[in-house]
Amino acid sequence: MPDVQVLADAASVARVAAETVAEVLSNAAERRGRCSIALSGGSTPRDLYRRLGSIEYVERVPWDALHVFWGDERCVPPVDPDSDYLMAKEAMLDHVPVPAGRIHRIRGEDPPERAAEEYERLLRRSFGEAEGPPPLEDGARFDLVLLGMGEDGHTASLFPGTGAVLETARWVIHVRAQASPRNRVSLTAPVLSAAARKLFLVTGMAKAPTLARVLEGPRDLDAAPAQAIEGAEWLVDAAAASMLSA
Ligand code: 6PG
Repeated sequence: MPDVQVLADAASVARVAAETVAEVLSNAAERRGRCSIALSGGSTPRDLYRRLGSIEYVERVPWDALHVFWGDERCVPPVDPDSDYLMAKEAMLDHVPVPAGRIHRIRGEDPPERAAEEYERLLRRSFGEAEGPPPLEDGARFDLVLLGMGEDGHTASLFPGTGAVLETARWVIHVRAQASPRNRVSLTAPVLSAAARKLFLVTGMAKAPTLARVLEGPRDLDAAPAQAIEGAEWLVDAAAASMLSA
């Protein structure tokens, strides 16, 4: 059974998610002296990022031990309104003391294949994994990955019908999405699944049919890539959960 927590509304999802982020990263930093998170883009996490960037969390997140990554990025410059990096920067990173050298954005301004290859090299260096496919060895993986889900069942930039979700050798790939911006760079399902904790944030009535299909429908990874993230936890609001049977 998937681990699903249904909360009253989107604000409650953001609040519980912020508490989870603080707890997971603090525990990791206490254990290892460092911690890592992969951020998701889109609009849902903006409220979460604003909360984490507020005075309430300045002391509660080990910002000085944190390495920030992204689970995907649109192939646009970092100043483009479509940039996932820009959204997180404005909502959170500009307001917290993460050293600039520990903010590892995907270079959306570069040719997509080069950006994907460079980010894979960065991840291998960061996690001490010189060779071989994911999943990463224990201790060499994200402490927390934040994920969203599109109405078409995509997560990160693993879009249905592209075969991207079936990639298991590479850690980072270029994906041609149906949604604009068309060119994306995405971490692959094994890398995302290898994280210690994977937290989906899904809100709104529009996502209800897809959430029911992903969580309760037949397993069909290329049709519903969000199903490929093993062991994920789901924080959803009542509207998005309204078509779940359980
Ligand atoms: C992106 C995200 C993507 C997002 C979903 C949901 O770059 O767009 O990584 O996977 O999480 O598309 O987006 P919303 O939160 O805007 O519904």
